[in-house]
Amino acid sequence: MEKIVHVPLDTRAYDVVIGPDLVAEVGKRLAPLLTRPKVAVLTDETVAALHLEALRAGLAAEGIEMEALALPPGEATKGWPQFSRAVEWLLEKKVERGDIVIAFGGGVIGDLAGFAAAVLRRGVRFVQIPTSLLAQVDSSVGGKTGINAPQGKNLIGAFHQPAMVLADTAILGTLTKRDFLAGYGEVVKYGLLGDAEFFDWLEANAPAMAEGDMALRVEAVARSVQMKADIVVRDETEQGDRALLNLGHTFCHALEAATGYSDRLMHGEGVAIGCALAFELSARLGLCSQEDPSRVRAHLKAMGMKTDLADIPGDLPTAEELVEVMGQDKKVVDGQLRFILARGIGDAFVTSDVPEDKVLAVLQDALRQRA
Ligand code: GLY
Repeated sequence: MEKIVHVPLDTRAYDVVIGPDLVAEVGKRLAPLLTRPKVAVLTDETVAALHLEALRAGLAAEGIEMEALALPPGEATKGWPQFSRAVEWLLEKKVERGDIVIAFGGGVIGDLAGFAAAVLRRGVRFVQIPTSLLAQVDSSVGGKTGINAPQGKNLIGAFHQPAMVLADTAILGTLTKRDFLAGYGEVVKYGLLGDAEFFDWLEANAPAMAEGDMALRVEAVARSVQMKADIVVRDETEQGDRALLNLGHTFCHALEAATGYSDRLMHGEGVAIGCALAFELSARLGLCSQEDPSRVRAHLKAMGMKTDLADIPGDLPTAEELVEVMGQDKKVVDGQLRFILARGIGDAFVTSDVPEDKVLAVLQDALRQRA
């Protein structure tokens, strides 16, 4: 059932292995990369309580020792205080240039641990073992690492590719339904941005995948990772095409900021709503047919996902205020908002040529539906 996606980045090339129960085999997978039988693991307390002993056993099976630091779970960990704690812990544990740091957790841990590895002794290798669907299909692949600043999310960081990614699809079984579906927002994004046939496949298979069908999970994660790998290989440091991966994210970031990066809206939920809004905007600009946004929304609804602004609990700012927040997004270039729009399902493109009044109208109508 296992699949391997190779990411061919010259000297920084690596494999993403996708399949069930990879944690049990972690020692065997890692051994060829190690210069000594010892690894340092950064994780969070939730993942540690559920899975750290399985990781320890998987390493011990090949005689590999591990030491672990479990950070508090949640986005607040992704800042300077926990980052310096992690880096100093790695130094205390005498992690050397030739060693491997393991990031064992969701996106927060992957980003923080990857950045710690990027700067420790001017760079050590690290392996991603992502435990959330969102991290498996997005953040663990592609080498974006970093932490948040008081001025905004992910503003401090480095490109540092992992030496290997092990996406254990059985581990996803301990996710809450909400976490799983939030990660699915990033899966559906791949179909919408570049592969209409994958979107058809998701319409047919995603309900069974969400129910736990393992072969479908492996297929969905592998296809997502393959698409991400192809884009990252074309544009590793986001000078152009990589921005396609931000479909839905301009709306999403404004909504996340408006909801205080709180439990009211998870990142993947914002991506799903943002994709629906990006298709609505594309249809109103005459770029795609009016059926496309309806089909996107119908699929998200069929999956039981947040689809509309009406699905976000609590108050939201006005459309004008949301557009103002978008203007502060780091994707603004020369004062121009950058959007990912679509000519149809599976056919997205990057543009700065979006009339602000059209964005405003889409948001005003979406907010009106909340009333
Ligand atoms: N998550 C978007 C990227 O990796 O470029």
